[in-house]
Amino acid sequence: MSADGCFIVLEGPEGAGKSVQATRLAEWLRTLGHNVIQTREPGGTPTGDAIRGILLQSDHLHLASETEALLMSAARAQHVRQVIAPAIEVGAIVVCDRYVDSTYAYQGGGLGLPMDRLREIQAFATGGVLPDLRILLDLPVEVGLARRHGDVDQINRIDRAPIEFHERVRTAFLGLAEADPASWIVIDTTVSIDEVTAAIRAAVSDRCGVREASL
Ligand SMILES: Nc1ncnc2c1ncn2[C@@H]1O[C@H](COP(=O)(O)OP(=O)(O)O)[C@@H](O)[C@H]1O
Ligand SMILES: [Mg+2]
Repeated sequence: MSADGCFIVLEGPEGAGKSVQATRLAEWLRTLGHNVIQTREPGGTPTGDAIRGILLQSDHLHLASETEALLMSAARAQHVRQVIAPAIEVGAIVVCDRYVDSTYAYQGGGLGLPMDRLREIQAFATGGVLPDLRILLDLPVEVGLARRHGDVDQINRIDRAPIEFHERVRTAFLGLAEADPASWIVIDTTVSIDEVTAAIRAAVSDRCGVREASL
């Protein structure tokens, strides 16, 4: 496929390197001459950022699982219509930090909400706009949490969940990737940041067909 209009999502547990690598990937694609939109979830729009505040602030500790799933999906519904679909429409490459699979992993795997209901909600929220490439940045839960806890300002409500929760999230992500290998690439991120960047570039070149002449 052509890289233009490609929708690339970075997924994975806390501290896997999604935010760092999303920025590096977007910058690299821009140097190759592509129009790139870098965005993230929950958020990506003023409405979504307001919802992100409720989801991640530690003063909402008693948020019901169903409320969490619906708020994540509400932010996503706005994000798809206001940012992602219009960007794809004009041929930009979209680099997104988390998308539907984070709902399956966190609210499904982590919180135990039924996957079939979550899939229905995602179909409604996304209107069928799904990633061309899902990159799972994978690492042991304790390694990722240790990385996050190195930066106290970054610790949010979901980071504070028990280790077993984060283990279920990781297992769910690995299961999603295993079930749909055509859509996913799994990258071990216990190696250096530069090595992860190189693996992501190789995957994006292979699956999204970035411009050969620029490589
Ligand atoms: N491969 C890596 N090796 C060591 N540290 C890393 C690596 N990738 C990311 N980090 C560091 O771990 C922390 C969390 O990275 P971040 O990109 O915010 O993860 P995420 O967005 O997946 O939670 C940051 O301080 C980042 O610099
Ligand atoms: Mg991040």
